[in-house]
Amino acid sequence: MKNSVLDVLYQRTSLRVYDDRPVTKEEEDAIIKSAIQAPTAGNQMLYSMIIIRDQKRKERLSELCDHQPFIAKASLVIVFVADHHKWFDYYEKNDVPAFAKRSGLSFEAPQESDLLLAIEDAMAAAQNSVIAAESMGIGSCYIGDILENFEEIQKLLQLPSYTFPISMLCYGHYKKDHTRKFRTRFDKKFVVFEDTYRQLSDEEYAEMFQDQETIYRPENPYGAKNYAQQFYARKTGASFCKEMARSVRVALKGWDGRKK
Ligand SMILES: Cc1cc2nc3c(=O)[nH]c(=O)nc-3n(C[C@H](O)[C@H](O)[C@H](O)COP(=O)(O)O)c2cc1C
Repeated sequence: MKNSVLDVLYQRTSLRVYDDRPVTKEEEDAIIKSAIQAPTAGNQMLYSMIIIRDQKRKERLSELCDHQPFIAKASLVIVFVADHHKWFDYYEKNDVPAFAKRSGLSFEAPQESDLLLAIEDAMAAAQNSVIAAESMGIGSCYIGDILENFEEIQKLLQLPSYTFPISMLCYGHYKKDHTRKFRTRFDKKFVVFEDTYRQLSDEEYAEMFQDQETIYRPENPYGAKNYAQQFYARKTGASFCKEMARSVRVALKGWDGRKK
């Protein structure tokens, strides 16, 4: 199978070094329009996109998101926010709580399920924007570390209740001499199952990780005895991941269905 959309999808890699040419207003408008065109649960558009215009704010975000300087150098930076604030406000302004009581319906503030649905919406929009950008020769990179330092990010972006900054994207033009580095993926047999989940055998795990295991270094600084230990020390068990866990736990406190 071959077509121009598949070409764009297969050519995309994350871009972290950007050309000096700015993303134009026209390009930005197309990126935003494509994001908005993404599917959205109940057509509710349970998200907001905050375009970071202010350079100082970009710099602060690059620090708060695990010190990644390239964020501050991106021409366009957008924070994707899972957002039930607007709908909840709208319900309250239109006497939905009293109506719900009269009608024997319970009325609850947004809760975990609402958050997950809003995240689905926000990420569908985000990924549409990535592909739209790529189709115009603009590379991008997700910043998952926006999940860290919730309290400061909440203040910096003035996020109200029932919002959750789920991802950030940096966009910028490719440098003329940029060479794409394609990172390998697990073989599809390890991620595509039919009808039910399939537990992988020890032999399959060995095969699944065999490519990645080539980057295990016995002389690694963590004293790790194999690739899994090395990866855990560098990522899952590292301090930035611990900070992410703490930060998300704080952010989740507002999403328990009880009105504060
Ligand atoms: C949810 C998510 C969070 C990510 N966070 C970061 C990040 O904070 N910094 C970064 O440099 N890359 C980040 N990435 C990019 C991944 O590292 C990248 O997609 C992965 O290594 C595969 O490489 P590729 O996109 O070039 O194929 C993130 C990607 C996703 C989907």
